[in-house]
Amino acid sequence: MILIKQKPDIASSEITPQNVYLNRRKFMQTTAALAIGGSVPFMTLANRQAYAMGTKFENLIKSPYSATDAELTSYEDVTSYNNFYEFGTDKRSPAKEAHRLTTRPWSLSVSGECEAPKDWDIEDILKQFPAEERIYRHRCVEAWSMVVPWVGFSLGDFLKFHKPTSKAKYIEMLTLVRPEEMIGQKPGLFGSVLNWPYREGLRIDEAMNPLAIFAIGLYGEHMPNQNGAPIRLVVPWKYGFKGVKSIVSVRFTEEQPFNTWQEQAPHEYGFYANVNPNVDHPRWSQASERVVGKLFGRVPTLMFNGYADQVASLYSGMDLSVNF
Ligand code: MTE
Repeated sequence: MILIKQKPDIASSEITPQNVYLNRRKFMQTTAALAIGGSVPFMTLANRQAYAMGTKFENLIKSPYSATDAELTSYEDVTSYNNFYEFGTDKRSPAKEAHRLTTRPWSLSVSGECEAPKDWDIEDILKQFPAEERIYRHRCVEAWSMVVPWVGFSLGDFLKFHKPTSKAKYIEMLTLVRPEEMIGQKPGLFGSVLNWPYREGLRIDEAMNPLAIFAIGLYGEHMPNQNGAPIRLVVPWKYGFKGVKSIVSVRFTEEQPFNTWQEQAPHEYGFYANVNPNVDHPRWSQASERVVGKLFGRVPTLMFNGYADQVASLYSGMDLSVNF
């Protein structure tokens, strides 16, 4: 996201309302299925992917934590303008390449400083932790923003289930490593873009804040692969890079974990990554943001991305220009 020159903004003509987009997608899926005439291996794969890409959740309730004043970013923008370096560094690559990712079966291990470690199958996570719709502002460190109706459940509830010990001061989360399905993980001419797996961490009290969720879908559907299927982190008061995708491991730790972008460029990206209009990135201002999908949509950035009432107390007494 940082190493590579930014692509020009999206033309408004490219933005399609969700119903048109979904119908087009359904048409393409049906056509593809008819064209191959029921070849068994292909259909099995297609069905497996279709589970994650397009299946609706039943009876979702809207969370009181939703930012109801904000206009939603279109489904097409949310699912076609992505950062997911495992599928390439271009914003358009994840939507093109992530269909290769097999998201069933999917295991997630919880380990480290807890009394009840567990190796989960994703289906059991979905049964154990009922999800709701959470509309959140989503602010990337590159100074663009969206508003996304996530489907998710409280990260705090998930963590408490595993009974963290008093030594659990942080959590570390890892993304899957599977270069045969994630083309961005294959080393190129100049080596690997990042040091895989993609890693992120939170202080335990941040992770327990009611705003932090594990998201398993968006727009009422199971998570599209390019957005981090089948399960990813969403912490709306932090820059988007904290939102680690396609998680396979959660570990309770005593020491503060290193995160991928901090390791990559420690003078530019810190551990906390709280959205803060008063602390600029060394190479650009963070005072305002471009609203994706709006032609003239530049708006001022809000402290903690507008969630100060809920999270500012987590950082009282800390110098946020040092702990950026
Ligand atoms: N997770 C992994 N595994 N790999 C990535 O490259 N990019 C991060 C974050 N999570 C990234 C990731 C960045 S920089 C952002 S801004 C958000 O994902 C983007 O999420 P979105 O594509 O759903 O908007």
